[in-house]
Amino acid sequence: MSDIKPNKIIIAVDGFSSCGKSTFAKAIAARLGYIFIDTGAMYRAVTLYALEHGAIRSGIVDEEAVVRLLGQISITFRFNPQRGASDIYVNDDLAEGKIRTIEVSNCVSRVSAIPEVRQKLVAMQQEMGRRRGVVMDGRDIGTVVFPDAELKIFMTADPAVRARRRYDELKAKGDAVSLEEIERNVRERDKADMSRAISPLRQAPDAVVLDNSHMTVEEQMAWFMERFEGLKN
Ligand code: DC
Repeated sequence: MSDIKPNKIIIAVDGFSSCGKSTFAKAIAARLGYIFIDTGAMYRAVTLYALEHGAIRSGIVDEEAVVRLLGQISITFRFNPQRGASDIYVNDDLAEGKIRTIEVSNCVSRVSAIPEVRQKLVAMQQEMGRRRGVVMDGRDIGTVVFPDAELKIFMTADPAVRARRRYDELKAKGDAVSLEEIERNVRERDKADMSRAISPLRQAPDAVVLDNSHMTVEEQMAWFMERFEGLKN
């Protein structure tokens, strides 16, 4: 595409949970021919592994046990041509379909607040973006993982709108969930993500804010392309 900037850059997409960050970041990556990396999926994958290996019982996260498991967790993304997107694998096991359950969602904030977990995943993310040409979505990409990212976007949307989006998504998959439970989870995660001691969710000073409460994906793309084109000047 002739209008694409030739030098590959890093685009950091941070923001609240269930804002449609991944949908947005995925669309940007497809448009630019960049690699898309969903860092939330990586924290979810560690949480899933911890659940499956007894480091989380009855919703209680045993931090030391999670740290002990870290050495045996290897995370990879592999492109799935049928989905047109990458699937996440933990130690060669496909984890994609198992990381977005409410059980994982309820524990992931606590797992992602463990310093050793962040250290390991941030290092992996920095390696994945080393050659640039990536769109990475998460909470700390523009502040910690790639503070030198050329374009930083901070996404937000009304919590009630976000809860409804996640509810529709889970319901479409056949999960029995209540809208109230989802909204509680969204608000609790906002609070936990913003108040954790290490790498809390913060808007980088040089990030541009995108509130997509009332925007379609097409409108968000148009908004993005305007900023991206602006980088050339
Ligand atoms: O984007 P998500 O909802 O799938 O993210 C899952 C959790 O992982 C979220 O509660 C916060 C955490 N997370 C993080 O701490 N840092 C990131 N870069 C990405 C996600």
